[in-house]
Amino acid sequence: MQHFHYKNNQIYGENIRLADIANEFGTPCYVYSEAMLEDNWQAFEKAFNGLRHRICYAVKANSNIAILNFFANKGAGFDIVSQGELERVLAAKGDPKKIVFSGVGKQTAEIIRALDVGIACFDVESLPELERIHSIAEKRKTIATVALRVNPNIDARTHPYISTGLSINKFGIEYSDVLPLCHRVQKMPHIKLIGIACHIGSQLTELSPFLEASDRMLDLLQQLKTAGIELTHINIGGGLGVQYHDEKPPTPQEYAEALRKKFENQSIELIIEPGRALVANAGILLTKVEYIKTTSQKNFAIVDAGMNDLMRPALYDAWHDILPIHLRYGDTHFYDIVGPVCESADVLGKSRQIALEPGDILAIKTAGAYGFSMSSHYNSRPRPAEVMIKDDKAHLIRKRETLGELFASETIV
Ligand code: LLP
Repeated sequence: MQHFHYKNNQIYGENIRLADIANEFGTPCYVYSEAMLEDNWQAFEKAFNGLRHRICYAVKANSNIAILNFFANKGAGFDIVSQGELERVLAAKGDPKKIVFSGVGKQTAEIIRALDVGIACFDVESLPELERIHSIAEKRKTIATVALRVNPNIDARTHPYISTGLSINKFGIEYSDVLPLCHRVQKMPHIKLIGIACHIGSQLTELSPFLEASDRMLDLLQQLKTAGIELTHINIGGGLGVQYHDEKPPTPQEYAEALRKKFENQSIELIIEPGRALVANAGILLTKVEYIKTTSQKNFAIVDAGMNDLMRPALYDAWHDILPIHLRYGDTHFYDIVGPVCESADVLGKSRQIALEPGDILAIKTAGAYGFSMSSHYNSRPRPAEVMIKDDKAHLIRKRETLGELFASETIV
């Protein structure tokens, strides 16, 4: 079911006209549909039903606490990569016992806080990190539960910036080092090894890399078992892609069925960490056309959202559909939809055929994942508002930042 749809030439989010949301909350503004989050969550839950599994939502995809609270209420676990994300999950009433903590650069204070609140597991990415966690746990007279994040050296066949499972990447422990490290862990009295983890990349549009990674992880599980090391889970990370343009990613159902074949006869729990596939299509970014500028080369529609609000097109050359929220009849032209930021990369969409006038509002689709969470203040632009459509009402879930907030923590010396 599509929760953002045209009716009488206007886009609605569920039963609310996006024009009304733009009027009330201004632009640029992220708008999320809770019903779409629900559909996405149910799709995963239904698909994995019957298999021992846990879904740990990857907080980095969208970390607004209203979204986290939605997933917490569903009983989700969380994949975090910083204390900031940890505090967000706690503020959103997420269960610390369902948190896994990934990331190559965990700092001492972050490890202490995570141990104190009793997270489920640290996904350890190197020997020095393991030693640091051990010594902190020792000082605090506790035992840290860990999984080793493995670098399975598998090509995820996605954008190189979001590919993480190749041995040239900074992530995870080299496959051949894992078994010796497990032996070492066993001699560490303040560490309990409970699993192995991997995450090979994001926006995957094929199943085969997931299956290759699963095979490698299951092989490792077997090797560990033979060496007398019993684990309780395998975490295969996130990465399932969504449709932005013409890609055809597997559905959660297809993804789960393929994994089920690999994992159903195992006595361990399967952890997955989807981010994008749970939130991307539940969000859009509303932006207003400020000016139309025609040069000898191009037509530009200059809008009030920029690369600081939605960085994906500038950073990855990513495609997002861009639609007028009120279809107008008239001549269409090809426009580059560009933001106000002083960078030529500040393009939200290239060559879009559309009928436009200044003042029109556009919806940039599939912006619920890695949209607001990657936003910045670049060019001293306050970050946009976020609105959640829930129970037929538009709720402000994050106020638009004020100009004063931009420099409130700065000092003149
Ligand atoms: N688990 C780990 C350890 C991760 O590093 C990530 C994403 C995920 C789970 C969630 O992956 P997902 O299901 O969302 O693909 N900014 C990029 C995406 C970066 C993803 C980084 N890691 C983008 O906008 O496409």
